[in-house]
Amino acid sequence: MINNKKKIKDNTKLVKFDEALELVRSEVDNSLSASPLIIRGYTKHLTESKGKFIRAVSVLICAEDKDGLIHPNAIKVAASIEILHLATLVHDDVIDNADLRRGDVTLQKKYGRKTAVICGDYLFCVALNLATNITDKEDYLDVDMPNYMGKICLGELNQHLNNGNLNLSMYQYLKIISGKTAALFEASFFAGAIFAGCKEAECKKYKQLGHYIGMIFQLIDDCIDFENTVDEAKKPVQSDYEQGVITLPLIKAFEDVSDLKEKASSDQMTREDINEAVAKAGGLSFTHRLVKKYHSKSMKIIRELELTENKKANLIEILNKASHLS
Ligand code: IPE
Ligand code: IPE
Ligand code: MG
Ligand code: MG
Repeated sequence: MINNKKKIKDNTKLVKFDEALELVRSEVDNSLSASPLIIRGYTKHLTESKGKFIRAVSVLICAEDKDGLIHPNAIKVAASIEILHLATLVHDDVIDNADLRRGDVTLQKKYGRKTAVICGDYLFCVALNLATNITDKEDYLDVDMPNYMGKICLGELNQHLNNGNLNLSMYQYLKIISGKTAALFEASFFAGAIFAGCKEAECKKYKQLGHYIGMIFQLIDDCIDFENTVDEAKKPVQSDYEQGVITLPLIKAFEDVSDLKEKASSDQMTREDINEAVAKAGGLSFTHRLVKKYHSKSMKIIRELELTENKKANLIEILNKASHLS
C-alpha cells in the first residue's frame, strides 16, 4: 500500500500526547484483562506490573502532527506494539530462565515454562489483531507488522544458536540486537511517521532513527546487566553470561584479556573473574562509546527532519532516555 494520502474524517477525535498515552495504557490493560477466561489469570498477572512504555511513547511522539495532535489509529498501533513487546518478554524469560520481570515474578516462574510459551503466542495474536483493526488501512503505508515480528524471532533465534559462543564477533552481536530489539523500535518510529502523514522519504528517516535508538537501547540494557542492582533494574542482573548470552562488554574483554577464553571454555570462570576482565578491558566504556556514536547518528537525523521545536525536543528526550543521558 504505497498510498499515503491520509484523510482525516470530520468526526475523528485527535488527542494530545498525555491523553493518547493514557488511552494506550487502558487499551493494553483492557486487552489483557478481558481475554478469554481460560487464559485470563495469566494475562491479568501481566497487568500487575508496568513497563516503561518507551515503544508506545515513540509511536505517539512520532505520530504528532504540527499541532501536537495524534490520530486514534496511532493509539491502537502503539498498544499493539506494547503487547507485541510483552509477548517477546514472556518468551524471552523462558529462554533466559528469568524469575523476575518488572519487579514481579515472571509468568514462566509462576505458572511454568509451557504455559508461558502458550501465553506469549496468544499475546502475539492479540497484538496482530489490534494492529489490523485500524480504520482506513488503504490510506496508509503498510508497516508490515508480520515482517517485523519475523525479524524479532530470527534475532532471538540467532542469539540462542550462539548461546555460549565465546567467539561471537562484534558484527554478529550487532546483527543479533538489530533483530531482537532494534527492529521493534524501527517499527514504532515508522508507524508513528505514517500516522503523522509523512511521505515515504521522510518515513525512511524515521525508520533509521528508530533502528539507531533500538541499538542504543539494547547496548545500554547489556551494560545494565553489569552496572545495575536488581532493585534498580527490576529484573535479574549479573546473569547474561550465566545464561550463555555473550554481550558487547564481554566480547571486548575476550578480545583484550589474554587467556580469558581458555578460562571460560574450561568452565572455571566466576562472576568476579568476568567483572574483573570486563573492567580491565574497559568493556563498559567501550560499549558506552558505541552508544555515543549511535547517539550522534540519531541527532544528525533529528536535525534533518522537518519538525516543530516541541517534537524535536520530544524525540531528543526519547533518544537521551534510551542512552541513559536523562
Ligand atoms: C526490555 O525492554 C527488553 C529489552 C529490549 C532490553 P524494556 O526495558 O523496554 O521493558 P519494559 O517494557 O520497560 O519492562
Ligand atoms: C531483550 O533482550 C530480548 C527481547 C527483545 C525480548 P534481553 O534478554 O537482554 O532483555 P531483558 O534483559 O531480559 O529485559
Ligand atoms: Mg532476557
Ligand atoms: Mg538484558
